[in-house]
Amino acid sequence: MKKGRIGVIIPAAGRGTRMNHYFPKQFLPLKGHPIIYYTLSVFQAHEAVAEIIVAVEEDLQAYMEENVVKRGSFDKVKEIVAGGKSRQESVYHALVKGKGWDWVIVHDAVRPFLSQSLLGKTIETVQEHEAVAVGIPLHDTLKEVAGQTTIVKTLPRDHLWMIQTPQAFSFSLIKEAHEKARREEFEGTDDASLVERMGKEVYLVRGSPLNIKITMPEDLLLAQAIMEIGDW
Ligand code: C5P
Repeated sequence: MKKGRIGVIIPAAGRGTRMNHYFPKQFLPLKGHPIIYYTLSVFQAHEAVAEIIVAVEEDLQAYMEENVVKRGSFDKVKEIVAGGKSRQESVYHALVKGKGWDWVIVHDAVRPFLSQSLLGKTIETVQEHEAVAVGIPLHDTLKEVAGQTTIVKTLPRDHLWMIQTPQAFSFSLIKEAHEKARREEFEGTDDASLVERMGKEVYLVRGSPLNIKITMPEDLLLAQAIMEIGDW
């Protein structure tokens, strides 16, 4: 394995409006701890991770520090930055604080079921390929719809994958990709898309269906079930 300092960015500044809760979903409790506690635990436990920067809404920075970081003894969390209006902006706010990093892993706060082995595979792969995204092939049939009521057409799914996080990059590459996107006012829903538009190849690592993004209220039920199984 190549050497290099690995920094982790956890965007956690979403409002969670789809969750019908005022409190953002990453702070909702799951078996006695907020969701983000489990997410941070994965990175805290991995020996290759040097430090973590979390982006949260400005009015939750103190809460995050007291109730999550201190309580969980997450000593790899170097800084809690204020997030931005979009996920991309939140990641950027953390990225500019990353000092002496060779590699960056970005992982959504609301994906607590990342296994140590998938994280390890991501780290190994980024050191070989410079840019990597975790994803799984699509099994459902995908259709383009109009007005939420009418099917326009069916899309061929052979080449379609659902992309998750973690996504990992060399520090210089992702910094350049974010800066280019900002200059050109491009807004992507993930970090890999910013690297793709630079013409750079992003390598795929097969993820896990259990690495769910807790977005909708129903996802909390799934999360509880995964917790019960206790093995992801
Ligand atoms: O639902 P969405 O894909 O936007 O959220 C993915 C992650 O990005 C969540 O962990 C959320 O908290 C974070 N996010 C953020 N800043 C925003 C919007 C979302 O850090 N402005």
